[in-house]
Parts: sequence; structure tokens; C-alpha cells
Amino acid sequence: MNVQTPTTTLADDLKAHTGRFTDKVFDWNAFPSNAGFEELARAQMRYIGAGGSPKVGDTSTMKPDHFTLSLIYKEPGHYAACHSHEIEESFLIIDGALIVGWEKDGEVVEVNLGPKDMILNVREIGHGFRVDGVEPVMMSISVDVGKPLPPVYHYHPKEHPTELARTFGAQPGKTMKFDRNGSHPLQQLMSKYVVRHHEQPTLWEDAGFTRKVYVGEGGIENDTCRKEMWGVPSRVGVKPFVRPVEDALMVLEGALIVGWEENGEIVETELGPRDLVKTPAGRKHWFRNVSAAPATVWSVIGQSGEDGVKYEAA
Ligand SMILES: [Fe+2]
Repeated sequence: MNVQTPTTTLADDLKAHTGRFTDKVFDWNAFPSNAGFEELARAQMRYIGAGGSPKVGDTSTMKPDHFTLSLIYKEPGHYAACHSHEIEESFLIIDGALIVGWEKDGEVVEVNLGPKDMILNVREIGHGFRVDGVEPVMMSISVDVGKPLPPVYHYHPKEHPTELARTFGAQPGKTMKFDRNGSHPLQQLMSKYVVRHHEQPTLWEDAGFTRKVYVGEGGIENDTCRKEMWGVPSRVGVKPFVRPVEDALMVLEGALIVGWEENGEIVETELGPRDLVKTPAGRKHWFRNVSAAPATVWSVIGQSGEDGVKYEAA
């Protein structure tokens, strides 16, 4: 018999593209260069790709197309040593406050980011981060999948005094505060890559939900991916849409149902906070909020430019 039985169903496929916070574990050994340095300790939960960790063989992680997505957890008093890499990387703060420093020639600009703020670390710029606040930081990191070369450390505590490593390479008096009107070239450069949630315009879609564009037209100009914060009120949903690239929806607050359709078959799954669905390119999908509370959703789309999607109310 030549009858072919499908090895996976659409439901299996959706399940394989769903990352559930409670099914995953934080990995405290994701970054070998931190080993032996308690002050650098951080944990990573991988959803899509390895995201800067060499652990590319993790089978509980989805394969990346144009971007990776992971959560990073870091406790007060800890920091990440100043480094640079060939891929660009964005930090979206979920909880807590994170100081991010950019370094050039021994001078550093530091910005304090709060919940729903984001920074995009441009390629080849020295950057590090530190938790000075009283609560741990949870953030989502996405990197593009350009060239997965290991990071180059500029001020690692292996080679430099801890004091200097903690300030990302700035000697006393060489740290500047982030200032959008600052005259220093490094302040001006960073200003283009910091997104404050409260500064971005809130766009109302006719379909009845809001978008704040972080990366893409109206946000940070970029040629790799689009990143948006969505607000989906109770009882709002959209009709099926298709993109030429993949997208990922991670719920930050509330709950959201994501649905897929293929050959007339329909499957849906409900996401809660820190759950994610990655929808492959070309797959018909939609979302709706059936709960009483609004949903806040972090959305990453595998291309920065116009993808022709028009959201229509369901
Ligand atoms: Fe980095």
C-alpha cells in the first residue's frame, strides 16, 4: 500500500511551535565565559534558537529563521561584562530595572531601562548590563541570526579589575548618563536605539487593538526584524492573516488564543504570561482575547519592512 499517513498533525505542529513557560527550565550554565564568576551569573530560558549561548543543540528549543528569542534572568548586584558581536541584539525589559552601558574608547553611556523599555545593541558596539535595583531583572533577548560568532569581551573580570568590569570599562568620571539631547557622539548614537514604552505612539488598528512599534517603521530603523508591543482588549480578535516570514507572539500580561488553519483544519491554543507561539512563514493564523482582562503581547516579525498584512476584526 502506498497510502501515506501524515506523521504529524496540525495540532502536533502547533504544539511543537508553542513554548510554555512552565514546561521550560532556566539554564544557569548557558554562557561558559561566566563560569567561575558569581557576579556574572545569569540564567537563560530558550524559546527560539540559542540566542548567544553556544547551546545550539537544545532540542527543547525551536529552530530560528530570522531571529532568536529567550528570557534572561539576573539578580541584583550582578552584571554582564562589556562585549561586542557581529549580530545585533535587543533587550526588552519585562520586570525590574536594567542598566545598559555602551562603551567606546574608555567612555561609557549608561541608560536605566524599566519594564517594557527596549534597547537594540547595534553590531560591533561594546555593551554590558548591570542590575543595580532591588529586584531581579527578567528580560527577553532577541538576536538576529546573521553570523553566530562568539562575543568578543572588552572588559571581562578575568582580565580586568572587577571595579572596571562593573562599569563596562569606564574609569571614574568616564561614565555619562543617557541623554537624548546630550552632545557626546555615544549619547547621540544610543539615543537612536533606546525605546521607552511611554514615548512610543500608541496606534489603534481598525481591528480594535493597539500597537506600539519598537523596531520597524515609526520605531528604530532596522533591516532585519520588526518588534511591536500589542494591547489586545477583552473580546477582540482578528481574522486569519498570512505573512511571508515567521512571527512570534509572547504574552506578557493576560491571555491570548492563537489559532492556525491549514487545508480547512483549525487548531487553537491559549497562551498565558511568558508563553509563546512561533508561526512559520506562510501559515494562516489569527489571535483573539476571550478573557475579561486585556492582553499585552510582545510580537517579533521576521522582516522589518511592509509585509502586506492588514488586520481585520474577526
Ligand atoms: Fe551582547
